[in-house]
Amino acid sequence: MEPLDIFYHPVWVLSTVLLAVVVRVQRRGSWDPRACPVQLRGKTAIVTGANTGIGKMIAMDLARRGARVILACRSESRGTKALNEIRKKTGNNDVHLRLVDLCLLSSVREFAERILKEEKALHILVNNAGVSGLPRQITKEGFEASFATNHLGPFLLTNLLLDLMKSSAPARIVTLSSANHKLGKVDFAHFRGENLVHHMDWVYNHTKLHNLICTNELARRIQSTGVTANSVHPGFVMTEVIRHYPLWVRCIFNLVGFFFFKSPEEGAVSSIYCAVSEELEGVTGKYFDSDCSLVLPAPLARDAALAVKDFEVCERLTSKL
Ligand SMILES: NC(=O)c1ccc[n+]([C@@H]2O[C@H](COP(=O)([O-])OP(=O)(O)OC[C@H]3O[C@@H](n4cnc5c(N)ncnc54)[C@H](OP(=O)(O)O)[C@@H]3O)[C@@H](O)[C@H]2O)c1
Repeated sequence: MEPLDIFYHPVWVLSTVLLAVVVRVQRRGSWDPRACPVQLRGKTAIVTGANTGIGKMIAMDLARRGARVILACRSESRGTKALNEIRKKTGNNDVHLRLVDLCLLSSVREFAERILKEEKALHILVNNAGVSGLPRQITKEGFEASFATNHLGPFLLTNLLLDLMKSSAPARIVTLSSANHKLGKVDFAHFRGENLVHHMDWVYNHTKLHNLICTNELARRIQSTGVTANSVHPGFVMTEVIRHYPLWVRCIFNLVGFFFFKSPEEGAVSSIYCAVSEELEGVTGKYFDSDCSLVLPAPLARDAALAVKDFEVCERLTSKL
């Protein structure tokens, strides 16, 4: 027997196939969007960062259900490519591209103004766009770039569109946080880029904690308006999210991810569940795992006093620009 022959031994091959099957089965949640009959004709949805990854799959599902879908993207060329693909695959031509750079509050305001002018209603807002592993950068408005993109931009966008959503109720806000929020800390100096260590996903983790805290506080504030706000962890998903990491990290991520991570389609499931499922009607201020189960977020995300303070700080930071 040659030394390498051991790898081709039937026992190894069979165990690898079995492991792959078990991982695939476990990757699937209990809720299947394809089996969910909810139709969205007459409903309008916005998905941020819809040109790739999880966001594109969420937009695809909403378009398939007949919604008017607005892809909120920062790149005209990447956005147009996704727009054409979604229209072609779903047969829904009521899908539109609107440009927004979430890391600039001025761009968020322009985008929201256009939406308020053009749209009569808004039933679903999915805050999906996000970045991870960005090197230290301060935007021209004075905010740390990851905080501006992942939290302050979506925070302002949600608040600017809130009245339209209230008048369209029932309506749902879904924010993509991450299980990584458990590793995050709250320090309000972070927003301006102070006290931060830019190493791997450390900054990202803080931003994802703020997503959860402020979504919970928003849910509390808009209780009984008919608008719900929930957060999700999409799972670990093979997307472009690690594009800013060093090559060696991307290689490991892609290798491990190939076997064990979700596809973008699978990663979209918990967000679609929160956006459309009938059983979540009226459910608000909750955090859902990638298999659509309701889970408790980290203790910091359950601290009501901290949430009030965080929301007020973000309101102050975003109201000036
Ligand atoms: N993938 C995972 O394992 C994972 C795990 C937990 C949570 N999440 C969360 O899931 C969400 C989607 O991530 P993904 O994995 O699909 O990542 P992705 O493939 O990198 O997609 C991110 C999307 O956000 C957009 N975006 C980034 N910066 C933006 C800005 N300044 N303005 C407007 N759009 C911007 C990107 O646009 P461009 O293409 O133009 O850059 C892209 O469309 C993120 O919030 C992420 O934190 C992902």
